[in-house]
Amino acid sequence: MARRRLAGKVAIITGGGRGMGAATARLFAEEGASVVVTDVDDGLGGALADALGPHATYVHHDVAVEADWAALIERVEAEHGHIDVLVNNAGISRENSVDDFSADHFDLMVGVNQLGVMLGMRAVAAPMRRAGGGSIVNIASAAGVRGEPELLAYTGTKFAVRGMTQVAASELAQDDIRVNVINPGVIDTPMHQQNSAERQEWLVERIPLKRFGRPEEIARTALFLASDDASYITGADISVDGGILLNRR
Ligand SMILES: NC(=O)c1ccc[n+]([C@@H]2O[C@H](COP(=O)([O-])OP(=O)(O)OC[C@H]3O[C@@H](n4cnc5c(N)ncnc54)[C@H](O)[C@@H]3O)[C@@H](O)[C@H]2O)c1
Repeated sequence: MARRRLAGKVAIITGGGRGMGAATARLFAEEGASVVVTDVDDGLGGALADALGPHATYVHHDVAVEADWAALIERVEAEHGHIDVLVNNAGISRENSVDDFSADHFDLMVGVNQLGVMLGMRAVAAPMRRAGGGSIVNIASAAGVRGEPELLAYTGTKFAVRGMTQVAASELAQDDIRVNVINPGVIDTPMHQQNSAERQEWLVERIPLKRFGRPEEIARTALFLASDDASYITGADISVDGGILLNRR
């Protein structure tokens, strides 16, 4: 039987109820990890953990809430004894533009997409040190590499995630905690399906591979970064985007 790449590891996946978080949870479970799926949607998260079987659990957890992180870490350490992998996947996207945004909207986006990632990295640093190392995989976006119209606040948060990944990778390397970031292009998840048919058409035309990505294609990259196959990789910024970022201005 092939080697299971996450055997013995405990992995937390935020926003794991659907989309690429759910694909990542499925793949990590297949690869032998004990998977902790977190989400704010208890129906989705609970159903997925049930489907994955005894090595998966679901925890209600809002990434933007500090107290939720403390409760999550306490529970995972009590149940599993160690934490080896964190995938900071939870995120929200809303269209807005220079002429049309509100401070409330900005606070919401920053809370989930940016503060959520900061809180997550801080929350797992101490347990990972105790475990002798770990891997943090942050999910940013191609929109965090190059700005496009109508995603003003979202783009800001995703640029921030890439920068914060570099800071955390520099600081945590001495503890053998690796921190990397994935920039998905346009991936066919419920988040993407919110886009109008017109915008989807516009997007697919811009993708050199001429199709949207599958959530599993992000999950496989997260698996690589989470596993010991990536033992010498930290601070990396990997775009999984069908080539959309080749269309540089
Ligand atoms: N789909 C794309 O095209 C695309 C492209 C680039 C980057 N991304 C990023 O990938 C990540 C996953 O996106 P997706 O497309 O799978 O999204 P999705 O909307 O399909 O799923 C996101 C999940 O996160 C959960 N969630 C939302 N707010 C949360 C919170 N505060 N705390 C915990 N969980 C929360 C949702 O309930 C949902 O289950 C996000 O960070 C997103 O910004 C997506």
